[in-house]
Amino acid sequence: MNQHRHGLLAAAMLCCRPALLIAAIAVPLSASAAGDPEAGKQVYDNRCLGCHGNDTTRGTTGPDLRGIFGRAASTAPGGVHSRALAEADIHWDEQSLRKFIAAPVKAVPGTTMPTGVSDPRQVDDLIAYLRVLK
Ligand code: HEC
Repeated sequence: MNQHRHGLLAAAMLCCRPALLIAAIAVPLSASAAGDPEAGKQVYDNRCLGCHGNDTTRGTTGPDLRGIFGRAASTAPGGVHSRALAEADIHWDEQSLRKFIAAPVKAVPGTTMPTGVSDPRQVDDLIAYLRVLK
């Protein structure tokens, strides 16, 4: 009798644990996928502005990132474009931007953009900012 109860308890724990785990993981994931454009602007000002400019200024070495979302790679005006990026056949959406910003040289070998941002949280925030950068 006692053993039977134990079995039920174990079954209940087995069945409920994954649900709890998923709930615990899903919350921070959805929060980070949204990204915070305000935080992204801070990262942008520190890490990207010098080359790319912002909504009012234009950078010198990097292309103008205003309206980058939805564009084909290498069609942003200004900056020093590489042949590698021009021929990469990339369309800038959340996924391709995430890959490129995290590790440009790995995503597009031969690109003239030297470094990326390794913190995935900052990449999410940057993407949220790029969405509204016009
Ligand atoms: C040292 C200068 C430099 C810095 C810093 C820099 N970039 Fe770039 N970026 C470039 C250059 C140069 C290119 C053109 C790359 C090519 O054509 O291969 C580029 C290209 C890009 C593109 C693609 C543009 C297009 O026309 O398709 C995106 C998106 C981008 N950068 C985002 C960023 C973000 C976000 C940051 C900040 C985390 C950043 N870059 C920091 C120099 C820089």
